[in-house]
Amino acid sequence: MTYNKAPVDFSTYQKQCQVRVDAALELFLQTPRSELQRLYQAMHYSVVNGGKRVRPMLVYAACEALDGETERAQGAACAVELIHAYSLVHDDLPAMDDDDLRRGRPTTHIAFDEACAILVGDGLQALAFEALSDNRFNPSQAELRLQMFAVLARAVGPAGLVGGQAIDLEAVGHQLDQSALEVMHRHKTGALIEASVQLGALASGNAQDSSLRALREYARAVGLAFQVQDDILDVESDTATLGKRQGADIAHDKPTYPSLIGLEAAKHYARVLHDQALSALHGFDQGAEPLRALARFIVERRH
Ligand code: FPP
Ligand code: MG
Repeated sequence: MTYNKAPVDFSTYQKQCQVRVDAALELFLQTPRSELQRLYQAMHYSVVNGGKRVRPMLVYAACEALDGETERAQGAACAVELIHAYSLVHDDLPAMDDDDLRRGRPTTHIAFDEACAILVGDGLQALAFEALSDNRFNPSQAELRLQMFAVLARAVGPAGLVGGQAIDLEAVGHQLDQSALEVMHRHKTGALIEASVQLGALASGNAQDSSLRALREYARAVGLAFQVQDDILDVESDTATLGKRQGADIAHDKPTYPSLIGLEAAKHYARVLHDQALSALHGFDQGAEPLRALARFIVERRH
């Protein structure tokens, strides 16, 4: 496989996106009154803590691929990161994966308490929809905003992220075949990644059916590649680099790509998916370079 040389300096692009989304996220995480200080402190702790911001980057990059102003995508970028942060807080709870380390720090239920962590997740999920509905951050026409709402709701609900988590919890200790593993990951990880690309495209105000179809194909490949790489890192990386416990999948007896098809085949599959993602973008011009660079980042990332 040969990667396309990305003309954007990806680390600069990533930094710019992180600064942009973090500035907006801060506005949603200001404590509105003293009685809520602990809840907001815990939400802030769970969101502003060194995440890679891959999903907001996908929002901005999809918007740029369709010549949209990234300012128009701020609400969507915040929304997907708020959902992602909520899902991590709940995923780490004792009733789920029972993890004590996330993004290099104690998980929210350890740093605060379990009830607080449940409310943090609930609060972040609601804030995501608030961010998407706020026309200062999402100046799209009302009808388009409603469409964006539906995209996000479907992706994070029982037919998406929540459904994927349910499959994940039921799969513990069971042998899944590759197609069952793929169904789980397309829901658990892929749905929000696909929604991020779709929301960025819609936020541009320039989305046509054909470009949405191509971007969906890109996002499906990238969404799965993200999870394949996540499984590889669980085997190959270390706790300090990952910021979460290395080997947690094995410890939890979770089915993964390396356990199912072997490490080398998993790496090959990640590269195949990367190439599929690039092929989906063949009709796009230079404006799609950030999306191309992101596909590469996703399969080359070390944490
Ligand atoms: C790592 O993201 C996270 C994933 C690969 C997604 C895992 C999916 C869940 C935990 C779903 C949980 C769902 C519910 C409903 C509880 P990342 O590498 O982008 O992490 P970062 O933001 O810390 O960089
Ligand atoms: Mg989990």
